[in-house]
Amino acid sequence: MPPPDASSDVAISIRNITQRFGDEGAHDAVLALDDVSLDIKRGEFVCLLGPSGCGKSTILNIVGGLFSPTSGTATVAGRPVDGAPHPDQIAFVFQESTLLPWYTVIENFRIALKFRGINKAEWDDRAMVALRAVGMASFARHYPDQLSVGMRQRVNMARGLCVETPILLMDEPFAALDEQTRMVLGEDLSQLLAARQKTIVFVTHSLAEAVFLSDRIFVMTARPGKIKTIIDVNEPHPRSPDFMLEPRFSELRNECYALLRDEIRRTVAAQRDPQPAGT
Ligand SMILES: Nc1ncnc2c1ncn2[C@@H]1O[C@H](COP(=O)(O)OP(=O)(O)OP(=O)(O)O)[C@@H](O)[C@H]1O
Ligand SMILES: [Mg+2]
Repeated sequence: MPPPDASSDVAISIRNITQRFGDEGAHDAVLALDDVSLDIKRGEFVCLLGPSGCGKSTILNIVGGLFSPTSGTATVAGRPVDGAPHPDQIAFVFQESTLLPWYTVIENFRIALKFRGINKAEWDDRAMVALRAVGMASFARHYPDQLSVGMRQRVNMARGLCVETPILLMDEPFAALDEQTRMVLGEDLSQLLAARQKTIVFVTHSLAEAVFLSDRIFVMTARPGKIKTIIDVNEPHPRSPDFMLEPRFSELRNECYALLRDEIRRTVAAQRDPQPAGT
């Protein structure tokens, strides 16, 4: 299957990606991804859901150009990635806030915008628009350690938005937050998306978060990671918390869990120490 060209409605295309870490045969060699192919459409919100170690972050890192896969290709907006980031196309938001502690919030945004080659005259406007969108404009001159964990992650998300790339890669952005805060941030993200038409690839371990946010959920197998099933969630953005009360929400969540259960058992079994003989 050839990769789609730049004019297609596909934002991210992965073809036959295999990722090995370490030398073949070495005690620490790992086959992380095994022949993964997928297409993500422009404006789509996709979640990668799978057991720990199945290669979710590896997929994001390859798409983000942090390294080249052992074999296969990733294409972003019709251009091959091949270990070269596309900063005009892609921004990252990670689980840990990556704000520099010795700079204020707005200074952190300016650094990100400068790095992306954005004109200096636009820095503060862009920063404030993104901070307002997450309700953090009044904290622009605070230092990161003057903010709670939830506020920092809100700012982190805004920084990912302010560079205004068409694609946002989010690796467990809410994992360090309590359940209520992450639900509220999920709602905010759905609102922000409805206004922005971004393509988002979002990694989470939360089934409810995946169903609440996604247009499609890519359920992965235990390592070596493959796409096991793709689940469609037909619900327009912005999504209201009422969606969580619908029977369809629980059905989709249960469907995800049913697909993941065996994969998680396989992962847990593989991580156990071997039993000594005779036990
Ligand atoms: N740089 C690396 N060197 C060696 N092994 C690596 C490297 N990066 C990832 N791995 C291994 O590849 C596999 C997939 O890792 P990855 O971080 O992509 O998993 P994940 O699905 O994101 O897991 P989690 O849900 O725990 O974040 C794991 O077994 C991991 O140990
Ligand atoms: Mg990960």
